[in-house]
Amino acid sequence: MNILLTGGAGYIGSHTALSLIEKGNSVSIIDNLTTGDKKLIPNKAKYYKCDIADQKLIQKIISDNNFNLVIHFAGLTRVDESIRYPDKYDYNNFEKSKIFFESCINNKIKNIIFSSTASVYGDNNSSYIKETENLKPMNPYAKSKLKIEEYLIQKAKEKKISYIILRYFNVAGADIKNRSGLISKNSSNLVKVLCEVATNKRDKITINGNDYKTKDGTAIRDFIHVSDIADMHYVVAKFMLKETFSDVYNCGYGSGYSVKEVIKEMEKILTKKLKVDIGPRRENDIPISIANADKFKKKFNWKPKFNNLNYILTTALDWEKKLK
Ligand SMILES: NC(=O)c1ccc[n+]([C@@H]2O[C@H](COP(=O)([O-])OP(=O)(O)OC[C@H]3O[C@@H](n4cnc5c(N)ncnc54)[C@H](O)[C@@H]3O)[C@@H](O)[C@H]2O)c1
Repeated sequence: MNILLTGGAGYIGSHTALSLIEKGNSVSIIDNLTTGDKKLIPNKAKYYKCDIADQKLIQKIISDNNFNLVIHFAGLTRVDESIRYPDKYDYNNFEKSKIFFESCINNKIKNIIFSSTASVYGDNNSSYIKETENLKPMNPYAKSKLKIEEYLIQKAKEKKISYIILRYFNVAGADIKNRSGLISKNSSNLVKVLCEVATNKRDKITINGNDYKTKDGTAIRDFIHVSDIADMHYVVAKFMLKETFSDVYNCGYGSGYSVKEVIKEMEKILTKKLKVDIGPRRENDIPISIANADKFKKKFNWKPKFNNLNYILTTALDWEKKLK
């Protein structure tokens, strides 16, 4: 396969690029490095420093290559920032993606895989969320993602593209060979923060709310290893080139851990206690977010390789030590 991948200097994009290249595919990356880092880009990928809305350059990149499909990871991803700057998220994630997809369509790329998020479901009161669940995005980040989903669905109705929308749950962990991982500064990502506490870059972890109606009062999330997410893209890409179809899939393991359980597992790995305190709930945070992950497994006959919290935390920690 010859793949155009946006956001390949970022966390999930770089892991996916590594995985595709390892399996013998060609990958060209476009990224403007707003949040990404050049050192995450695999050596064997072609790299273009380019904004997704730079139609002229993108047209040239597409006409210089012969891409079978595009995987669109590029975007801003911080919920807290999106609440403060909703227009920035609408512009970068929605408006610019639309311009980018128009460049793809005008230059005859028809197969699109798009990174969406479980946060499009919002608070559904449902423990194992199916793809058919109502969509109630609760922040500007999630809203911007849902608007792109709707745009892609419309373009497929017009027979201009085929899309696969992948709604990721909580992506965590790092490449086992330590070639990539999460770099994000001032992250609010639980696993990232824990790794920073474990490597003395922060002095404590704050639990955002311990009064949820869950088994230990802390929020529960479906953590999926980033290398499994990368593999899901490979599987989907291969399939899309054989069969013309469009659909939406959850990407999770279908099981969840509470914040306290994740902290406990990290303490087990470190064989020491970490400094933990309790803070207020975050705005619009939901108590439980777990995927019903059956649809993807069934359609693609896929099994995860890294469904293990200890493995997720160990790989993330190894990466954090390397960053030090
Ligand atoms: N990390 C998660 O848990 C998670 C969960 C659900 C969905 N997602 C989605 O997955 C995708 C990748 O997320 P990530 O965690 O790797 O984020 P990331 O910030 O590490 O990567 C995003 C990349 O996109 C690039 N980018 C942003 N805007 C751009 C633009 N206008 N033009 C060109 N490049 C641009 C950034 O420089 C960065 O390299 C995002 O679309 C995100 O919404 C992530």
